[in-house]
Amino acid sequence: MGGILAVANQKGGVGKTTTAVNLAAAVALAGHRVLLVDLDPQGNATSGLGVARHELERHVYHLLMGGAALDDILRPTAVENLAILPAARDLTGAEIELAEMAEWEYALADKLRPAAARFEVIFIDCPPSLGRLTVNAMVAADGVLVPLQTEYYAMEGLTELLATVDSIRAGLNPNLTLAGIVLTMYDGRTNLARDVEQEIRRHFGELVFKTVVPRSVRLAEAPSHGLPVMLYDGRSQGAEAYLELSRELLRRYRFSPPESAHQTENSGAAT
Ligand SMILES: Nc1ncnc2c1ncn2[C@@H]1O[C@H](COP(=O)(O)OP(=O)(O)O)[C@@H](O)[C@H]1O
Ligand SMILES: [Mg+2]
Repeated sequence: MGGILAVANQKGGVGKTTTAVNLAAAVALAGHRVLLVDLDPQGNATSGLGVARHELERHVYHLLMGGAALDDILRPTAVENLAILPAARDLTGAEIELAEMAEWEYALADKLRPAAARFEVIFIDCPPSLGRLTVNAMVAADGVLVPLQTEYYAMEGLTELLATVDSIRAGLNPNLTLAGIVLTMYDGRTNLARDVEQEIRRHFGELVFKTVVPRSVRLAEAPSHGLPVMLYDGRSQGAEAYLELSRELLRRYRFSPPESAHQTENSGAAT
């Protein structure tokens, strides 16, 4: 599988951004070159990684809709190997403006192409809807990662989400896979969490990551310090969970090196 993963679930508050930020950081800490694309107008991934939204002159909106170059928008983060394509409020306008573009579904895929040559893994943090931004993310992606909050209504809305993935695979992006389901905000002290986990595993089997992300105050605190949890409190349960999840992800999918590395190898072999 290629290395572009859309972190999606049309429900808000299920752990998309927390997963995108901390999993991206964990994969970067393992030595891979990682890009996080903030595709949510709320810009939580952006502020969570310490980039001040109001100071941004250009952000992902200007890449998507305008002629801004990737390099004008990319920002470094406190994690070596992790860059972010930040977002700010006016990305909201893209939902409507995209409709007026020819082949709007491919806007992000086209604009991310140069990034795919430079980063091994790209995470896209999606907004809480199945609108045009999320469709763009799924068309650009190789896989969809679905965070599910381990609570009673966890699977509500999942049918619609999976149907969206299927229809994009059937038409706009035949390569798209369901890369996995991540259980978040797990409270192991309750029977409810265990019951819900069992039910989801029975339903989705191997698709569900073995690693479960516990409810952890540190995970909720870290964004206000502009840091992923590993740099905020590396010994917390939340940090350990996302590091473990990153190892499981990297075992499951051997992401191919960036295209530029391929080209070097190929040209080396040809001479
Ligand atoms: N495992 C967790 N433990 C504690 N709080 C969490 C955890 N995951 C997410 N949160 C908090 O729950 C809220 C919603 O999470 P978030 O990742 O922003 O969800 P989404 O992006 O799906 O809307 C945030 O305030 C976040 O800090
Ligand atoms: Mg979010």
